[in-house]
Amino acid sequence: MHLTAPAGLDRKEAEAYQRLDPARLPKHIAIIMDGNGRWARRRHLPRIAGHRAGVSSVRSTVETASRIGIPALTLYAFSEENWKKRPKSEVHFLMGLLCRYLKAEVPTLNKNNIRLEYIGRRHELPDVVQEKMEWARQATAKNTGMVLTLALNYSARSELVDAFQSLADAAARNGGLNHLKIDEELVSRHLYTRNLPDPDLVVRTSGEMRLSNFLLWQLAYAEIYVTPTLWPEFRGVHLLEGIAEYQKRDRRYGGLADDAAHQHAPLPPKTARS
Ligand code: FPP
Repeated sequence: MHLTAPAGLDRKEAEAYQRLDPARLPKHIAIIMDGNGRWARRRHLPRIAGHRAGVSSVRSTVETASRIGIPALTLYAFSEENWKKRPKSEVHFLMGLLCRYLKAEVPTLNKNNIRLEYIGRRHELPDVVQEKMEWARQATAKNTGMVLTLALNYSARSELVDAFQSLADAAARNGGLNHLKIDEELVSRHLYTRNLPDPDLVVRTSGEMRLSNFLLWQLAYAEIYVTPTLWPEFRGVHLLEGIAEYQKRDRRYGGLADDAAHQHAPLPPKTARS
């Protein structure tokens, strides 16, 4: 069957789109953008040149995801560890880059009906960065299309710590811990991502096989796609390749594959998940 590609895709993207099943697109894609430094080193450039080049990849990926109708995209821009362990000059450059990106990109986000959100301990960022972030969030708040979430000063373990603190505070307001009944649903409602579905697909660029403290709770059943492409070379077409790979996977959520389920009599309750 020949699908009509969504408007705005370039020729390569339109070809890659033909290989997808539009009825089974992921509802939420999370991306660990990695390899900016290696990209720069290979070109004998300073690391910041890699980050600068990475902005074009962000733009292309965001626009393609939105054009094909992905409801939510989350980008791991800066981890808590990035802030603490990188040279001050690089951190300073990254903050400036973020502010320039937000200023330049808001009109395009609005044109594409994309709403901007953030996860991470934003209150620890410099005031001027927080102000720019809030300005961009409000400027796109009425959009009804894709939700673009930037993870900034983000750490999954800190997110869980904050969720447990928020649970304890809520319990204290409502009769104490004895009345608290904790289940997965309740924990999810206290995470930064409370308004997002869990990601179906997590993409990591530059070949590293790690989650690096990203969305540890939410990625429990996500499909993982690792590409050797370095982030500054990643474009919308690579995202479509990742989605094609995702659509080949057999998602079981700890159950059996469909054909195996039909061959076996019911099993005793599972003790471990796969
Ligand atoms: C990882 O590459 C990338 C980062 C820590 C920063 C990500 C920033 C961008 C992609 C550009 C700006 C983004 C926005 C949203 C404006 P690395 O430096 O760890 O690369 P390496 O592992 O090769 O050293």
